[in-house]
Amino acid sequence: MDYKVEVAKQLSMKIDFLSVEEIEAILETPKDRELGDYAFPCFRLAKTLRKAPPMIAQDLLKDFIVEAPIAKVDAVGGYLNFTLDKTGVVKSVLEAIIEKGARYGSKDLGQGKNVVIDYSAPNIAKPFHVGHLRSTVIGNSLYKIYRFEGYNSIGINHLGDWGKQFGMLIAAYKHWGDDKALEDEPLKALLDLYVRIHAELDEHPEYEDEGRAWFKSLEDGDKEAERLWKWFVDLSLVEFNRIYDILGVSFDHFTGESFYNDKMEAVVAEIKEKNLLVESDGAYVVELGEDEPPCIILKRDGATIYATRDITAALYRKKNYDFEKCIYITDYAQDLHFKQWFKVIKLMGYEWADDLMHESFGRVSTEQGKLQTRKGNVILLDDLLNQSIGKVQSIIDERNPDLENKEDVAKAVGIGAVIFHDLSNNKNRDIVFNWDRMLSFEGETGPYVQYTHARACSVIRKSGVNDYADQIDYSLLLDPASLDVIQELAEFPDVVEQAMVRNEPSLITRKIILVAQRFNKFYHDCPILVEDQALKGSRLALVLAVKTVLATGLDLLGIKAPEKM
Ligand code: ARG
Repeated sequence: MDYKVEVAKQLSMKIDFLSVEEIEAILETPKDRELGDYAFPCFRLAKTLRKAPPMIAQDLLKDFIVEAPIAKVDAVGGYLNFTLDKTGVVKSVLEAIIEKGARYGSKDLGQGKNVVIDYSAPNIAKPFHVGHLRSTVIGNSLYKIYRFEGYNSIGINHLGDWGKQFGMLIAAYKHWGDDKALEDEPLKALLDLYVRIHAELDEHPEYEDEGRAWFKSLEDGDKEAERLWKWFVDLSLVEFNRIYDILGVSFDHFTGESFYNDKMEAVVAEIKEKNLLVESDGAYVVELGEDEPPCIILKRDGATIYATRDITAALYRKKNYDFEKCIYITDYAQDLHFKQWFKVIKLMGYEWADDLMHESFGRVSTEQGKLQTRKGNVILLDDLLNQSIGKVQSIIDERNPDLENKEDVAKAVGIGAVIFHDLSNNKNRDIVFNWDRMLSFEGETGPYVQYTHARACSVIRKSGVNDYADQIDYSLLLDPASLDVIQELAEFPDVVEQAMVRNEPSLITRKIILVAQRFNKFYHDCPILVEDQALKGSRLALVLAVKTVLATGLDLLGIKAPEKM
């Protein structure tokens, strides 16, 4: 139950010129809990009613019918204060969590509808950089959040596996290819070829034509071109999959740009048929109006580009998945690209263009700033993850050397720390990796939340109680520390919904940090394993609820929740 909405509903019976939502937006939380749980500042009505706020408060109070979950209403100065029936609130929150378990927090908003999430999408033979890591982590979390809310999430890895650069790569391979280097360190060897041919263009402008010719052969289905291309893709995929494995991320489809090769012709024809295709300097474009550069569809040599493939992919996805939303996750450098081709879809007459969403995120750097450079390949990404795991390993060795499954825990916490850090701030903010901050067990970090979860598990284990359901007396959980925990838990379903509506996993990150902080205060203030069976049972119920919500929250971020740390 959303208590604020309930209060707003009851209040709306007395204020006919404001909607429930408007009243909800005006309701405040009093600084002093003694005053009540919600306060309505009556000065907000003073202008409309032409009355002094204290008068308004008195008027509203008169004949106010108090109903659950409200226990008491008072007028204090210009405020109308509402006190909830706290025992009832505690009961309904904890009962809901205990009953729903790992499903607590879901409102089943999706009803089985499809949502496509396009994330990660590294480029073959180019670095899988921390930006791709970020896309992977955000996309994976959104995938889980939508699924949790009852949607059928469809995760697509739109690999950059097509385009003129593959012609360049084949040309480079024909000049300097070294099969052994390619088998040993595929991504490095591919990148070396790519970098080298571009570096030599000044002296050998003819390489450009060679590359173009190879790409043309590839598009025309030439066997040799296809063989090499396929080999390069497979080599890269082995490496990418290793990273996905470490991160615990998977996709429903690996349909990269090449997948649309045989589907673009029909789409270009459709654009033309709709009179949208205009010749411009030998190329074919769709004009987007005064303020925006046109969207190129076919280059001067007749080749398609990134945007042509995105348009084709969107049409394909709409037809095959009939999505309610199709969400693209890349950094903000691609804002214009998405804006442009979304508009093309709209101009083609497809209203569902409005269901395409580009969710862009900020840039990532490390304190050394190194990972963004040309050298920032998958090997450095490995470094990042392995360093994180290694650092956690040494912390465990120091603090808890006898821990079982040490390696698994170190992996869960090391990777979790990176993911959590990545999802800590609004996604459009730039982020800087900072090891100490990221791995600390005390700050607002993944390890802190995981550790709190493990602490809750440990209390439950130590209690030796299996079934305390009938020992719960909710009125024993009305102390401030317990109520603070309950309040955070009560808000969890709304936060998950908002994280979904705004495509913003960081809302969940922040919420579980609060749950963990409040729980640790409770743990400190309220002894749990006490003699009094009712008190013990009630506090254990709270611990169980916290453990459940933390585990769900971490899972929605794509992070494991070890039971022991
Ligand atoms: N491969 C692109 C890149 O690395 C990202 C692709 C994003 N998805 C898309 N449908 N355009 O920048």
